Amino acid sequence: MAPMAVALILGWWLVAASRAQQLPRPSLSLHPSQGVSLGDNVTLRCHLPRPAAWVWLYLEGRWSYAKYIDKKQDTTEFSFLSASHDQAGTYLCQYQVSESEDVSVTSDPVKLVLTDRSFPPPHISLHPEERVGTGTNVTICCWNKDYGATFLLHKDGRSDPIQRLVPDDVGAVSFTLFGVTPADSGTYRCSYHPKNYPFLSSPLGDSVTLEVTPTPAPPGAELVSRGNLVVAVVRGCAAALIFGLGVFFVIDARSLWIRRDESLGGEGI
Ligand SMILES: *[C@@H]1O[C@H](CO)[C@@H](O)[C@H](O)[C@H]1NC(C)=O
Ligand SMILES: *[C@@H]1O[C@H](CO)[C@@H](O)[C@H](O)[C@H]1NC(C)=O
Repeated sequence: MAPMAVALILGWWLVAASRAQQLPRPSLSLHPSQGVSLGDNVTLRCHLPRPAAWVWLYLEGRWSYAKYIDKKQDTTEFSFLSASHDQAGTYLCQYQVSESEDVSVTSDPVKLVLTDRSFPPPHISLHPEERVGTGTNVTICCWNKDYGATFLLHKDGRSDPIQRLVPDDVGAVSFTLFGVTPADSGTYRCSYHPKNYPFLSSPLGDSVTLEVTPTPAPPGAELVSRGNLVVAVVRGCAAALIFGLGVFFVIDARSLWIRRDESLGGEGI
């Protein structure tokens, strides 16, 4: 009896699966498509290739939500007022044309990454300099000692991050743009995913501007071996980090002095 039940279930599942494949895949989009902060309103739009009665929205590994559509439409919206931590994650949607028919395959996943402004923005520096000739290897260092788990390099005007890297123990990364061309000219910024929060992002940090002139880099530069370049880059990042820490201590020491002055002033009255 049991094997027969298994065979029936399997048969039903195979038929259902093959029918589901006949329904075209829906697509899911996010509005606004990027730069959504905690507390912002955000909408997920499931685009249906044919009018449907039911649409499901899934937050991968967490929950699903079904929505019944009275008047058949080709798009369904799911809106969050004031997006919270719980809503960050990977979303998928799926539809059913009518109750008697099968469910479609799921859409491609869409990630909702929320910017959490309580995380400090990362620091950035550029090496060897902001104006270089074509063919130079340019390095952009980003660091945030305490929080960064994965760093992203963004270029203004491009919707997706152009590179991502996991930092070393010091919490710094160095992105390399090999053999730059004038097309690499532009403004660059970093952000990071905080440790243990792959769907949260720090705010974007300060920017650096790269200007690549069409003239090739002086021939001397090409003689620098890869080993030397790596050493120079690591030194550059380390120097930037130490400088950053130095500034921090100076500011800290100053605030101590100011506090001391205030308390002395208070005693004087
Ligand atoms: C979110 O939407 C609500 C209702 O439409 C509106 O009152 C509110 O101002 C919006 N919030 C933001 C941050 O846009
Ligand atoms: C850039 O880096 C590549 C790979 O490390 C190296 O082969 C090349 O010589 C470097 N170019 C310059 C101009 O330093």
